[in-house]
Amino acid sequence: MTVGPPVIRPAELIQRKRDGHELGADEIAELVLGDVPDYQLTAFLMAVYFQGLTSAETYALTDAMVRSGETIDLGAALGRRVVDKHSTGGVGDKTTLAVGPIVAACGVPFGKMSGRGLGHTGGTLDKLESIPGFRVSLSTEELVAQVREVGVAIVGQTADLVPADKRLYGLRDVTATVDNVSLIAASIMSKKIASGADAIVLDVKVGDGAFMKTLADARVLAESMISLGRRAEREVVAVLTDMDQPLGRAVGNALEVREALRTVRGDGPADFTELVLGSVAHLLALSDLGVDETEGRRRAEAAVADGSAFEAYERWIRAQGGDPDETALPKAPLIREVFAPRAGYVRRLAALPVGLAAVHLGGGRRERDDAIDHAVGIVCLKKRGDRVEEGEPVAEVHARDEATAEEAAADVLAAYELGDDEPRAQPIVLDTLS
Ligand code: URA
Repeated sequence: MTVGPPVIRPAELIQRKRDGHELGADEIAELVLGDVPDYQLTAFLMAVYFQGLTSAETYALTDAMVRSGETIDLGAALGRRVVDKHSTGGVGDKTTLAVGPIVAACGVPFGKMSGRGLGHTGGTLDKLESIPGFRVSLSTEELVAQVREVGVAIVGQTADLVPADKRLYGLRDVTATVDNVSLIAASIMSKKIASGADAIVLDVKVGDGAFMKTLADARVLAESMISLGRRAEREVVAVLTDMDQPLGRAVGNALEVREALRTVRGDGPADFTELVLGSVAHLLALSDLGVDETEGRRRAEAAVADGSAFEAYERWIRAQGGDPDETALPKAPLIREVFAPRAGYVRRLAALPVGLAAVHLGGGRRERDDAIDHAVGIVCLKKRGDRVEEGEPVAEVHARDEATAEEAAADVLAAYELGDDEPRAQPIVLDTLS
């Protein structure tokens, strides 16, 4: 992972970035790949946070990160064009769990490396681990063999794939330097490029539960990632999607797997189903099937309707050692309903407090090595625009004990804003860029 001689001037490079100058690709590579201590890398990240990176610098950072470890050529191993998706992270975002089997049922290989939860946002690996027996660590050979035989595999990122991102991300997470467009774009795209995707659908979340709070910021992030993909000769489509309220109804690991499974069977919540089918349509249009998005959407809907998507789900979960039966998923011992204090319309259901409430119930980590309680979480029975009557349940809290249930119920209730007027409907997909 170390290139060339040890860096002798990181402080000089940090100073130039601090003062707003552009660094060369070799200089960025020296910082990322050289033997630079954490305190200097952290100072560099903070300089980037304030000064930003030019598009050439962002590409140089991405490229150096890709070169920090192994790369996988899934396309060559499978002899197919490989498509991938990535979400920038949100609350209730179980999209990959439903997209994978539907894409596979449509005849397109889906081999994906996913991550764990981060802060208030959940992670696909944590969700998958709520399935009894499910193995998330497969070797690259096992991943390739499973995608070839079963059509779909979703695994944890190997330690050798973009180790520089692991290091930089760990530093960013504890030094308030996560939410910078260039750093996020390089982090995400380096992993996508290193894991061999030919075409990528990026789900850029926008709103209070996302890293990007405004549509304008999300657009800048999407454009940056599209440009990085283009320079690395990958096709990229970015969908900007609503994260001002949780996606679907379920927030919490096993609850989300259950919702994804129901969606694959055609019985999912409207916003989540729309996002899943739209993402599959984009992925099929980018694949080697030779179809456009309209036909992709038709095939996605058909795979759900004829049961082939559910069959692909069952095959996939079994192949990774899991029990695909919904009843095998863990259940929390206690379910506490949250009641509407008045009649009206749900004007707002803030995503961030719901995500945090799920973490406090034990469904996420406060510290890196915390164990996760897969059974707990929240089901949002009412969402923005829904009519409620006084005393009607708006949500369920699934908890391990009374004390955590009580606290989460109060947090969830505070996330709801009720009003007299029906709010204007907002689509789940706010914009699409390519
Ligand atoms: N997801 C990532 O993989 N990296 C970031 O920096 C932010 C979200």
